[in-house]
Parts: sequence; structure tokens; C-alpha cells
Amino acid sequence: MRAKLIDGKAIAESLREEVKQKVAERVEKGLPAPGLATVIVGDNPASKVYVRMKHKACQEADIISIGHELPADASQEEVESLVQKLNADPSIHGILVQLPLPAGLDEERVLNTISLQKDVDGFHPINIGRLAQKGREPLFIPATPAGVMYLLENSGVELSGANAVVLGRSNIVGMPVSLLLVKANATVTICHSRTKDIPGLIREADVLVAAVGIPEYVRGDWVKPGAIVIDVGVNRVEDETRKSGYRLVGDVAFDEVAEVAGAITPVPGGVGPMTIAMLLRNTLRAARLADGNGNG
Ligand code: GUN
Repeated sequence: MRAKLIDGKAIAESLREEVKQKVAERVEKGLPAPGLATVIVGDNPASKVYVRMKHKACQEADIISIGHELPADASQEEVESLVQKLNADPSIHGILVQLPLPAGLDEERVLNTISLQKDVDGFHPINIGRLAQKGREPLFIPATPAGVMYLLENSGVELSGANAVVLGRSNIVGMPVSLLLVKANATVTICHSRTKDIPGLIREADVLVAAVGIPEYVRGDWVKPGAIVIDVGVNRVEDETRKSGYRLVGDVAFDEVAEVAGAITPVPGGVGPMTIAMLLRNTLRAARLADGNGNG
């Protein structure tokens, strides 16, 4: 393997330790521990796993976290009134509504209901709007995109003027990562299902962020030698040699691409742990905003 391995797990651990330290300093000063409320609507098993991991991470950082679960047939009003109740609760500094919501619920209206100061996911339309505008800054940056940027900034790559290709245009990853890369002065190409000649575009990329949800989609001979490759994909593929019957792979054919790239994130152990670390950071920031110092 030629590429340097970007160890998201280790980087995330040190960020989580930093957050824990800052939480302890707050409590020492008599300030409240940060409080995070999560909301799951319905029975999506992956959502339940992710939210459980978020609660565990909060617990380890001494952040208070409270989970709310609503049934899959909850009405729009029920979801919004829970969010409003959390908006009004001074012990809750951050609110996270796990996505996707069950079909029939209006996601945009729910996200719009979350108080801007408590929007630790950064998905409120105003926060996303600020991300898209020059000279404006959101109060919170979505956790996975923030984790991707942290890894890139610490990989030593010069983002200013770099050619960056983002595979995928989702609201949660592809689009906000693209906006952040533009803010970092990269030249960004967003590829999606209708894009022509994706391999040709990737061959020009100094930085590649893959977030399409297709197992091992990016092949070794698509990648420019020395490129920095961030793999956001988490895909289950059958593997009878495993007790679980499956293993996790990214959107990048790791073994092939690692022979060509300059640096690469593994799956698991790359972007995934960073998402959680960034959520903890955002929750700490939300508590600081609530202290009234305004600078998070
Ligand atoms: N679903 C997948 N990723 C995320 C995330 O980062 N936040 C929320 N709220 N839902 C998600």
C-alpha cells in the first residue's frame, strides 16, 4: 500500500477527549453540562444504531443526552410539538432529529422548527443557506461534512486551488461538503447519477470525497496518483467468513485505490468516528451559545 492511512478513529478519539476536558471545565465553573436531545421517528434499524452510538459518545464525554422515540405513524404536529418542547427546555442545548423521517412527514418543516441556536446537525435551512453564501457563516456545520473537512485540513493537502470531486449530492453529506470545499477555495465538481464520464472527472481530482452509497464504486485506475481520498460510504456486503454474515465496505475499492492515492480513509475507522466527534463539538458549542457569550 502506497497511500498514507488517515486514521479517523484516532483523530476522533483525541477530539472527543478535548470535548470531555472542556465539558469538565464548564462544570467546574458552575456552568451546566451540555445537553443533547435526540429524536427518532419510526423503526429504521440503522437510525437506531447510529443514535445509540451518539448517546454512548455523549455519556463518555459527560454530555447529558436524552432520547425521544415517536412511532412511525406520528403526525407532523406531534413531531413539531416535541421539537418545540425541546426548543423551550433550557437544559437542552442541542436537538438532533435523526434522518430519514418516515414517508409522509415533511422533513423541511421539521428541520425549520428546530431553534437555530440548538441546530447541532446544522440542517436548519438558515444554517445551510449561510453555508452556501459568501461571507456568511452558519452557527453549526453538519457533523459528517465537518469531519471530512477536519480530516482534509489535517492531511496536509492545500485545498486552495485544488481540484476537488465530490461523489453524491445528498443534503446530509454531498452538498454541504461541496459548499465547505468551495469556502476553502477548492474548485469543486459534484458528480451524481446523471454525470457523464465520472472516471474521467475523478482522474483530474487532487481531492476526492465519495458519498454515493455504492460499495467499492471508485476503482484504482480512476484515481490521480497522490490524490487525497475521503470515503464516506458505509455499505454492508455479504461475507460468509464473518460471524455476522456481512462486512462493511466504503464507496471506494480500498485495496486498489490505496496503491495509487497519496492518503486514504479506511471504512470502518475513517469518517464514521469523526461524525460523532463533530456532533459532540457542536453540542458543546450549543451550550456555550446558551451561556450568552455568543461566540460558541
Ligand atoms: N442520518 C444520517 N446521518 C445523519 C446525521 O448526521 N444527522 C441526522 N440527524 N440524521 C442522519
